[in-house]
Amino acid sequence: MPSAVRIVRLLLAAALLLVGVATAQESNDTITVYKSPGCGCCEKWAEHLRATGFRVDARDAANLNAVRRELGVPSRLAGCHTAKIGRYVVEGHVPADQIKRLLQEQPDVAGISVPGMPVGSPGMEGPGGHDYDVFSWDKVGRTRLFATVPPLSR
Ligand code: CU
Ligand code: CU
Repeated sequence: MPSAVRIVRLLLAAALLLVGVATAQESNDTITVYKSPGCGCCEKWAEHLRATGFRVDARDAANLNAVRRELGVPSRLAGCHTAKIGRYVVEGHVPADQIKRLLQEQPDVAGISVPGMPVGSPGMEGPGGHDYDVFSWDKVGRTRLFATVPPLSR
């Protein structure tokens, strides 16, 4: 028969496991943003994320291409900053609502991207914007259209 001490130990282990899972789920609120030092539109994108409820952990990276390579961002989908949230990579000026959709739907992709820096995307506000595309890519490099979104008017 198990001793009382053993039972208490097992309960403690189970409680710690639950705490660990809860912490991992909470990390969906925090997005880690890797950006070039002094990048203005990166800062504005981070502001857009904060304004929509994300906690932003912004980090300056001397070599963003190395970060992209490490995170598996296809070079053709490169934007101007790279971010990580939960199990996903978010590349470039992706609107916050598309990141929320990604986290909610949990598709089997590695990440989503807005390549280049389209005018009218969050952080790139300005006149003359057009609809632009958000792409997803998966582990084997397959690219799909994730969304087409209208420019912000400001
Ligand atoms: Cu930018
Ligand atoms: Cu940027």
